[in-house]
Amino acid sequence: MVSHRMDAIWLNARLATMAHTGVPYGAVEDGALAVQGGRIAWVGARDDLPDKPEDFAETVHDCGGCWITPGLIDCHTHLIYGGNRAGEFEKRLEGVSYEEIARAGGGIRSTVEATRAASEDALFEAAQPILRSLMAEGVTTVEIKSGYGLDTENEAKMLRVARRLGSTLPIDVRTSFLGAHALPPEFEGRADDYIDAVCTEMLPSIASEGLADAVDAFCEGIGFSREQTRAVFEAAKAHGLPVKLHAEQLSNLRGAVLVAEYGGLSADHLEHLDDEGVAAMAGAGTVAVLLPGAYYFLRETNTPPVDKLRAAGVPIAIASDSNPGSSPAGSILLMVNMACTLFRLTPEEALAGITRNAGLALGIGERAGTLEVGKDADFVLWDIDEPAELAYRFGFNPCAGVVKGGQARPG
Ligand code: NIG
Ligand code: FE
Repeated sequence: MVSHRMDAIWLNARLATMAHTGVPYGAVEDGALAVQGGRIAWVGARDDLPDKPEDFAETVHDCGGCWITPGLIDCHTHLIYGGNRAGEFEKRLEGVSYEEIARAGGGIRSTVEATRAASEDALFEAAQPILRSLMAEGVTTVEIKSGYGLDTENEAKMLRVARRLGSTLPIDVRTSFLGAHALPPEFEGRADDYIDAVCTEMLPSIASEGLADAVDAFCEGIGFSREQTRAVFEAAKAHGLPVKLHAEQLSNLRGAVLVAEYGGLSADHLEHLDDEGVAAMAGAGTVAVLLPGAYYFLRETNTPPVDKLRAAGVPIAIASDSNPGSSPAGSILLMVNMACTLFRLTPEEALAGITRNAGLALGIGERAGTLEVGKDADFVLWDIDEPAELAYRFGFNPCAGVVKGGQARPG
């Protein structure tokens, strides 16, 4: 009798494992990938299979020569919110800046008002089409932030919706508590008091309910100062939560140095990052999360210092930053194209940015981001001739199938 050791095997595939193998894309031509119990149990060249495929696995899938990549990871989104900001977009086209709108009480604050007014069910329904759009391109893990509630009840509401999306849809959701995103109107002129509430009331309550996997903040002139951000990081540390930061987006407040000091998972945006910030991130292993959608939509002109990040060996991730104000995006592949055209990443770097390095940015590198034995069996089949096509085309989705936890995910 034949003993089937594996649940399933995918054959006749070209693998972009994205593992550090010394070969571009960690590629394996004529590869095979087997899964068992939701994990990758064997990956390599078909010629090295120890057995005939039908003896090796219960089910044999023929991929017809398509490419397989790791499941895509969108490591920075704000995709749960009420309303939208199309009207603000029109204002910006008339010449009013993002910062001017924020300072006049619009911007993030207008989304806070709409999000507070929305029920949990309404937020859940509104988020689904955005999430499904990302999933259609092969996203198997997404990070979702709070930050449009700005009080305990509404921040918890957002994070419960995030958890519910993860338990209802076939996608892993990682959550970040972003209470320090903007000053809510009831704290006008009292930013330190608000930060005190974030640290002593909101964060402890969110942490005790297990609603956050990490803590984020917006360190910026229209956000919070370094010292206020430091207070939030201290509170996160006291609750055993890792930190990350919106840093150096519109100006340089040396947020990257601060988040690196706390061993942060990532510093995100970074259009105004300086050499000291690059060195601090390299020393701490903090991932640089670049957000070309926000750069594009806000018509930023400063690009993140990619050459310096590269030279210092800082891992670079790419994310959609999907949010109503600065990046109303529903496509991760478009971000990959923009990371190449606008920031001059190579297609291989950009693909690593939504796989291996995005996994590092979420602190889940040991189980996601590459096709390696022991990792979650999350992968994507692509109808392409070479991996660079994923970066080259835009407004086009060549996803031919997604496997999540070893199971084909319904399209
Ligand atoms: O990542 N920078 C701050 N937060 C978001 C924008 C949020 C908004 O405008 O609603 C960002 O760009
Ligand atoms: Fe953001």
